[in-house]
Amino acid sequence: MPNQENRLPMKSEEAIKVINLTKKFKDLTAVNNISFTVKKGEIFGFLGPNGAGKSTTLSMLATLLEPTQGTALVNGFSIRKDRDSVRRSIGMVFQDPTLDEELTAYENMDFHGRLYNVPATVRKKKILELLKLVELNERKDSLVKTFSGGMRRRLEIARGLLHEPKVLFLDEPTLGLDPQTRNKLWEYIKRLNTEKGLTIILTTHYMDEADKLSDRIAIIDNGKMIILDTPENLKNMIGGEIITVETPNGDKLESLMKNCKWCKSGKRHDGSFTLTVDHADKKIPELVQIANKNKIKINSIVIHKPSLEDVFLHFTGKTIREQEAGAIENLRQGRRMHGRMRRR
Ligand SMILES: Nc1ncnc2c1ncn2[C@@H]1O[C@H](COP(=O)(O)OP(=O)(O)O)[C@@H](O)[C@H]1O
Ligand SMILES: [Mg+2]
Repeated sequence: MPNQENRLPMKSEEAIKVINLTKKFKDLTAVNNISFTVKKGEIFGFLGPNGAGKSTTLSMLATLLEPTQGTALVNGFSIRKDRDSVRRSIGMVFQDPTLDEELTAYENMDFHGRLYNVPATVRKKKILELLKLVELNERKDSLVKTFSGGMRRRLEIARGLLHEPKVLFLDEPTLGLDPQTRNKLWEYIKRLNTEKGLTIILTTHYMDEADKLSDRIAIIDNGKMIILDTPENLKNMIGGEIITVETPNGDKLESLMKNCKWCKSGKRHDGSFTLTVDHADKKIPELVQIANKNKIKINSIVIHKPSLEDVFLHFTGKTIREQEAGAIENLRQGRRMHGRMRRR
C-alpha cells in the first residue's frame, strides 16, 4: 500500500499509533495484524505468555526489526520512514541485559550519552541526576559486574532516559528478580510516569505486574491481540466470583456442570475446574453435594474475585502457565525438527 503513513495523522493526545502491524519469521507469524494506540502519559502494559510476540512488537516499534506488514507512528514519526527520529524520541530497556560489565555505572551512562550526542556540557549533570533518581549515585564508580540484578535493571532504566525520550519501552522489566526488588522497580516505574510525565510501554508475563502498573492492558497471545482495556474493566467483564475446584475428576465435573443454571461459565484447566457464578458462597454446598453424589474427589475449593489470571483464561481458554508450557513444547519440537536453537 503506497503512502500508507501519509494517511495516518496522529491526534495530539496520542504517543503511539500501531496499524495492522505484522511480523513473520519464515512460516511463523510472531505478530499477527495488531492495531492499537497509546495515549501520552499512559503506562501501557503488554501482557502475554513467553513467545506471544511482545518483544518482537517492541523491536518493531523501536525500529530494530522491520515489519512484514503494517506500520506505526511513534511520537509522530513513522517506524518505516523516519527511523532515526523514532530512535531519538524513545528510550529502550531490552529484555536481555545490554550493560558493559567491565565499565562502571557512570561509564555505561556516559557511553550512551555520547552515542546519542548528549552535549558534554549537560551530560555529567544529567547522568548524576538520573543515577540519583534510581538510587545508584553512591555506586556510580563501581563496576557493573559487582551489581545485583535489580541494580542493573535500575541502571538500564536510567540509561534509557539520558537522551530525554518522550516514550520509554521496558521489555520484561522485572524478569527473574525477587519480589522485594520487583516492588522497588515498580515504584520507580510509577514515579517516572507521574513525576516526569513519561509515556511507558512495558511488556510482561506477570499478571501482578500488568495489574499494578498499567493504565491499560493489551493481552497478546500467539501474536494476536485478544483484548485491550483497563485492568478494572477487564476484570469486570468476567463479573461475579470465581470458584476454583481442584480435582482429579475435572472431566466428569465439567460434564455434570454443563447444564448448571446458576453458572455463568465453566472451564477445566491445569488439574482444576473453574466456575464463574454470582454469590459463590451460597453455591458451594450444592457443588459439594453434586461432587459427593457422583464420587468426584475434591482436593480444595477456593473462591475469589476475578483476577487478570481469570481474564486471561476467559479470553484464551488457557491459563498463562499452560500457554507457556505449550510454547516451550512447540519450541522443543521445533528444535528437534530444525536441529538448531531458536531465539526466545
Ligand atoms: N529472530 C527470530 N527468528 C525466528 N523466530 C523468532 C525470532 N524472534 C522471535 N521469534 C519467534 O517469534 C515468537 C515471538 O517471540 P517474542 O516476540 O520474543 O515473544 P515474547 O517476547 O512475547 O516472549 C516466538 O515463537 C519466537 O520463537
Ligand atoms: Mg520477550
